Amino acid sequence: MTNQFNWHISNLTIEHLEAVIKIEKETYSDPWTMAFWNYELKHNSHSYYLGAWAGEELIGYGGMRLLFKKAHITNLTVKKDWQNKGVGTSLMAFLLEEALKRKVKDVVLEVRESNYNAQKLYSKFFFKSIGVFNNYYKGEKAVVMVLSNLSAYRGNLNKLIEKFKACIRPG
Ligand SMILES: CC(C)(COP(=O)(O)OP(=O)(O)OC[C@H]1O[C@@H](n2cnc3c(N)ncnc32)[C@H](O)[C@@H]1OP(=O)(O)O)[C@@H](O)C(=O)NCCC(=O)NCCS
Repeated sequence: MTNQFNWHISNLTIEHLEAVIKIEKETYSDPWTMAFWNYELKHNSHSYYLGAWAGEELIGYGGMRLLFKKAHITNLTVKKDWQNKGVGTSLMAFLLEEALKRKVKDVVLEVRESNYNAQKLYSKFFFKSIGVFNNYYKGEKAVVMVLSNLSAYRGNLNKLIEKFKACIRPG
């Protein structure tokens, strides 16, 4: 089934590990390892991951760890030929929808200092830079971005969530 966006969003599980690893290797110079992904998707009860599919093909994914009313966005990745079409925005919208459902107060993430595209996306979701971690990535600083008091943004977030509602794969 297709929608006006040509992709669907659904839970990312251990069954999708191979496809995830392939995109990780294509995208990052320091991809997460198979063991790390295995832990996140299979064993970490605090993790929540979503995938985006065009038909049967995995084209993106994103996730977070949820603990004590705080969420840490751990990953947001869109396959190169699908970037800049709204896939990352739709994934983030549904991650934050889940965080809202779980009554999360603050959401935090790190992003490479040079990664302006990602920082732009996060700003669109009202994340604010609060500082940097030196040498967080190999030889590069991480900008720390926080979305504080998530529920205060519910109205604005609902507009983004509503826009992408048709992406959710039933069941
Ligand atoms: C960053 C990333 C997840 C964004 O996903 P995406 O699907 O390409 O982003 P979207 O199409 O939803 O765009 C959302 C916003 O991001 C910004 N953006 C995304 N790609 C951009 C580009 N090439 N140039 C400028 N801005 C861009 C824009 O602000 C855009 O908002 P707009 O539509 O109002 O202009 C994706 O590009 C990606 O996977 N990059 C490589 C991995 C990575 O850097 N991940 C983030 C790690 S912290």
